[in-house]
Amino acid sequence: MTTQQVSAVVLAAGKGTRMKSARPKVLFEVLDRPLLSWVCDAVAAAGVSDVVVVVGHGKDEVTAHLAANHPTTRTVEQREQKGTGHAVMTALDAVVSDAGAGAVLVVCGDTPRLSSSAITALIERHRQSGAAVAMWTATLEDPTGYGRVIIEPSVDGSVDGSADSTGNVVAIVEHKDATPAQQAITLVNPGVYCFDAAFLAEALPQLGANNAAGEIYLTDVVQIAAKAGKGVVAVAVDADMTLGINDRVQLAAAERWARSEAITRRRLAGVTVVDDAGVKIGAHVVVGVDSVINAGVALSGKTTIGQRVVIGQGCVISDCVIDDDAVIHPYSVCDQAHIGAGAIVGPFARLRVGADVGEDAHVGNFVELKKTALGKGSKANHLAYLGDAVIGTGVNVGAGTITCNYDGVGKYQTTLGDNVFVGSNSTLVAPIN
Ligand code: UD1
Ligand code: MG
Repeated sequence: MTTQQVSAVVLAAGKGTRMKSARPKVLFEVLDRPLLSWVCDAVAAAGVSDVVVVVGHGKDEVTAHLAANHPTTRTVEQREQKGTGHAVMTALDAVVSDAGAGAVLVVCGDTPRLSSSAITALIERHRQSGAAVAMWTATLEDPTGYGRVIIEPSVDGSVDGSADSTGNVVAIVEHKDATPAQQAITLVNPGVYCFDAAFLAEALPQLGANNAAGEIYLTDVVQIAAKAGKGVVAVAVDADMTLGINDRVQLAAAERWARSEAITRRRLAGVTVVDDAGVKIGAHVVVGVDSVINAGVALSGKTTIGQRVVIGQGCVISDCVIDDDAVIHPYSVCDQAHIGAGAIVGPFARLRVGADVGEDAHVGNFVELKKTALGKGSKANHLAYLGDAVIGTGVNVGAGTITCNYDGVGKYQTTLGDNVFVGSNSTLVAPIN
């Protein structure tokens, strides 16, 4: 079979009622990244470049997020949320007529644990089988809330390919509509499908809303395909991947999963994470080998940490560069700062934007730096505010030193040359040299 254009439809128009929030559900974050971004990134990593996101509830915010973070995605608006089948129908023109898709991948915008390789496997299975529908299936201990996958033994004894089926998929029955016997089925619909575009265009208009929710279910197209003998094939995926976020309890579960995965990845790369408790390591954070991260440390943004660095308990570090052998003592807060090799910072230090702590320099407790370079080997060990300052090498800044950099109108520079000694409680009124 020849390769065909695959477009993706991401369903993100729903209200997210169970979040009990004014914010659109798909913009809630897991490891600082909105749910919708996890989904868009997984789809992109699976090699699908034409992506249409169905927006509705909170569409302005969702569209703005997509424009800023996933600029190649397109959006269509589903004005009324009449169900997943209706949502796909809303997007059909955009993928079939505009993009000329031969196959349509459908995913939900609230499932951050999707793996791109399982998406690729689904597309591949769809292509090879020639079936109208390829779908993921998963077996869950507790299938409550999910659509159940109905399997019937096939006449010719063939199987559909899913791990635990002994026949072919003939239908999906939603939890609300399932009989007690169907509710006992543990094979569920994770909500990821690859459809033949022509079949989808033909099947969607046949959908009704005669069900417990009064919604137009996308899942009913499976039965249409099975009845018409057009083929439904399944790809079994890990149960974890099915986790859809419907409330804040599930959101917390996804956060735990994402944090734990990020920690494991760093541990395997040679970083000691002493205790998982409260540790958060962002996706773009780099940590060198033999560095040690203690409990309660949050590392985010484009933070880069060298080798043999120790980050003490409870430090909050964003967009910083920390060179080899530096030690950050507990409860220090650093944002957009540079810390040189072998420097010692904290406990309870605050490094703000533009702080540049030189090699082997010391910044002690209750010291705040902003737009200030502290030269090699210089020390500000206790209770100081150093703002808009250039401080040379070998300088000692005494306890209680304040740079008065602001007169209520303008900001002014303080410059201290090499080997300067500043006594305790000094008030340096800038500009001063
Ligand atoms: C759906 C499936 C169910 C599956 C489950 C997996 C249907 C009918 N059921 O149920 O079989 O087990 O996902 O998580 O499809 N959405 C829209 N417009 C709408 C309605 C929903 O864009 O009109 C979006 C939502 O924002 C969400 C996704 O579609 O991202 C799924 O909708 P949701 O209502 O959560 O479906 P489930 O009840 O979870
Ligand atoms: Mg859902």
